Amino acid sequence: MNIKIINGPNLNLLGERDNAIYGKETLNEIKDWLKDKVDSKQSVEWFQSNHEGEIIDEIHKSINTCEGIIINPGAFTHYSYAIRDAIEAADIPTVEVHLSDIHNREDFRKNSVIKDVCMDQIFGLGKTGYLNAVKMLITYKSKKKNS
Ligand code: DQA
Repeated sequence: MNIKIINGPNLNLLGERDNAIYGKETLNEIKDWLKDKVDSKQSVEWFQSNHEGEIIDEIHKSINTCEGIIINPGAFTHYSYAIRDAIEAADIPTVEVHLSDIHNREDFRKNSVIKDVCMDQIFGLGKTGYLNAVKMLITYKSKKKNS
């Protein structure tokens, strides 16, 4: 299965950024950790950008090339209708992931404008959230194949 993991603004600062909330690992360390956990038959590609338009372009590039998207849009989660519309238009099974527990932080983080176009929202599990999202997409694909 071809899966793309898209990360939004400030996630390039993981490891330096507020360790108590986001943990000590960098995005590359999380990427290496996940690689070890996922069967090598699965293709998992990572992308990070601090720019809304680049994230939208990456979602568009996934059309006809990816079977699943995992997205942590960072703060764009809470207000980017453009990213929401891109996910809807791409029509690729998409899982929303957040490292932190967005429902137990500032009020503005509780709302996700992309939630309704995603299969599920995973939050508060740190890097395990990405792994659970990969498993969710693989299970979804195999159920679809067998139905
Ligand atoms: C985040 C939560 C967002 O509210 C925040 O703006 C981020 C990271 C998370 O992974 O917990 O940048 O998406």
